[in-house]
Parts: sequence; structure tokens; C-alpha cells
Amino acid sequence: MGRDRVVRIGLLGFGTIGSSVYRLINKEHDQILEGTGVDLRVAKVLEIDPKKRPADVPEGLFTADFADILNDPDIDIVVEVIGGTTFAFDFLDAAMRAGKNVVTANKQLLASRGQSLFELAGDEGRHLRFEAAVAGAIPIIKVMRESMIAAGIKTVYGIVNGTTNYILTKMYADEGDYADILKKAQELGYAEADPTADVGGGDAAAKMAILGSIAFHSRVKLTDVAYEGIQNVTLGDVRYAKDLGFVVKLIGAARLIDGQVSVRVFPALVPEQHPLASINGANNAVFLQGDEIGEIMLMGPGAGGQQTATAVVSDIVSITNTKDVGFLQSCSCYRALGFYPADEVESAFFIKTNVEDVSGVLARIASVFGDHGVSIASMIQKGRGAEAELVLITHPTKEKNFFAAIADMKALNCCTSEPMTLRVL
Ligand code: HSE
Repeated sequence: MGRDRVVRIGLLGFGTIGSSVYRLINKEHDQILEGTGVDLRVAKVLEIDPKKRPADVPEGLFTADFADILNDPDIDIVVEVIGGTTFAFDFLDAAMRAGKNVVTANKQLLASRGQSLFELAGDEGRHLRFEAAVAGAIPIIKVMRESMIAAGIKTVYGIVNGTTNYILTKMYADEGDYADILKKAQELGYAEADPTADVGGGDAAAKMAILGSIAFHSRVKLTDVAYEGIQNVTLGDVRYAKDLGFVVKLIGAARLIDGQVSVRVFPALVPEQHPLASINGANNAVFLQGDEIGEIMLMGPGAGGQQTATAVVSDIVSITNTKDVGFLQSCSCYRALGFYPADEVESAFFIKTNVEDVSGVLARIASVFGDHGVSIASMIQKGRGAEAELVLITHPTKEKNFFAAIADMKALNCCTSEPMTLRVL
């Protein structure tokens, strides 16, 4: 075919994603060539760990020196899948300065040091593509940057961490408490040996920073995202939520409120009938609301080498086929919006606490909420005497008013346990 063109890839890292990218490029080589005229070849792989160099991959492909990729004029695209925010930054920076387009799956890097990389890409006229950085195989970056450009997106809700969604799904199915399920997930290799980034919400926060930046065309860094994890969610909370018709999920919420940006991650009660409530196991989903579109949800595998590799390869092929690089080459953050104050955000809340089962307690609690303008939507008391447990759900209210009411409720001294609070979507 006359239009056939060889495109050589320098791959940084041969771990789970890197090796999957290599195998996918080889597996789909002929189909991509036939369909696009691009003859994709992995020319060199940077991998310093000999244990990560499998016997069925030609040893001559590997190097331990990044300069072998940087200084090879025949390498067109550098794919970074080593992770971390230091070497990965230096390699991408140097590759773009050396005239190469780059692809990365590194959400922590983009959410913390993305701005200077995007500025460099714009200055040097390079592509910096990152479909694999958020929600694995789900093509959410392409959809938000291109397909939704006229959609007027105002809200992005995401289930963007598979580990936590897996744990919460098992808790909902009553298969154990948080600690048991996390332990089993680690034994099965579904959860990392150090699960902090996943269960603590940091992984989801980095992904939501990226989605928020794209949605509102204004830079959101990891440090701009207030996040909580699921470590304090108990089986009891999940059971209560279920009784009340809710599913507990770790939700990322990026919203445009009065022209300002709010991006947060928190465990929340999601009504059973909401599309996000049906996202089970390690799957991810992104739910978009916009002026022109109403609601759209994309769901699918958010992790896994093979799955994530499809996003990397789609970026590579897209770069090779974009003759007029146009707007995709420049950073989409062309605005500098402010951030909406966290305590002014309106949320509905679930509260669970143990109370003294004596007359007047409910009235005193209700009056505290009333004093702060917090309206109660429903209330259940379970058990009696010392066992009495009170569950309240509020109407949406400013968070500062809600937390002021909680402080006053605690001061009443009729709560016999620390109140547990969760937001309600
Ligand atoms: N550890 C992540 C998750 C996948 O559990 O979803 C990679 O970001």
C-alpha cells in the first residue's frame, strides 16, 4: 500500500502495562497496518530489571540507558509506562525537546507536574497523549476532549478506582467486612500489597484532577482535590445503606458551581436506581452531565495490562494519523477558573450514631439541625436502650452548616458513639 508508513516506538518500562503494549502492537500489527497504513514497531524498550525481560522477547530490544531511545532519530513516539513522578517527568520532557511525540499512562505525574509538560508540548509542537491515565480501557479522555467539546459539561461523577469498587461490591454482597475483603483481594492479586493509594482515595483523586481539568478547561492539580478513602466504611454502614435503598461507592465528583471548580473524592451513598449504583467489581465508570447532553455514562475495565494497553495503542495510532494536529496538540486548560470553597458545596448526608433511648433525645437532635437550617429527609431508630442506633438522612445543605450541626449534636451529650457521616449522591 503506497500510504504505508513505519512508526517506531520507544517503550519506557516493561512491567504489566509495558509488556501488554508490546504484545498488543505485535498482535494487532497487520490489522492496524491494513486499516490505517501505519506499520507500528516497538524499536527499543527501556527496562533495567533483568527479571522483567522475558525470554520470548528479543534481548536486543532492551536497553538500560534512556539515551539509546532519546538519541535514536528513527524513534518517533516515546511511551512512558514506568510510573513515578521524577524519572518519568525527565524522560518525557527530554523526549519532547528531542522532537518526539509522547504517550503516558501516568496519572500521578500529570496530576502533579502536568502543567509544565503540557506547556512544553504546546511550545515544541508535540503530542502528549494520556488516554490510559484515567479509567483504563474506557476511552474517556477522547470522549471528553473531542466528542463532548460542545456538550457544556457541568458535572463529572466517576467510579475511577477498581480496587475500592471491588471491596465495596463484596461488602454490599455481605461477603465480609472491609479488612477481610481487602486481605482476600491482596491474596488474589486484585489489590496492591500496599493498598494506600487505592483505599485512601489518592489514585481516584489524581484521575479526577485530570478529568476536572479537561471538563472545565482549567488546571486542577492533585493538591486541589480534597479526598477521603473507604477505610472507615464499615459493613454496618453498607448494610444500613442497603436497607435504605442505597449502595456505598467511592465517588469522584468534579463540578462547575457558579463558574468555579470543585473536585473531590469521597465515599457516598448512591441511590440504587442511579446508573453508578450498578457498577460492580473492579469496573470503572464515568457519568457526565452537560447542558446539551443530559446524561451520558461510560463503563468498563479500569485497570489490567491488556485492557490499559488498548488505550495506549489508540493514542499511538491517533498521533500517527493526525496530520493537522490542531487543538489536540495544545493543552485544553485555556482558562484559569477559581475553586469553589469546599464548605459552601451543597450535599445531602447520611448520619449514624448511637443515642440514649430516653424521651426528648430526638427532639433535641432535630432542633440542633433546625437551628443550622439543615432539613432532615428521613430518620430511623433501630434497637432500644443502650443499643439504640439513630440514622438520619438530610436534604442537600451547605457543608459548613451540616458540620456545625454535627458539632452541636455531639455537644448535647446524648450520642453514645462518634457520629458516622457519609455524603449522599
Ligand atoms: N489501582 C488502580 C485501581 C488501577 O484499582 O483502579 C490503576 O490506576
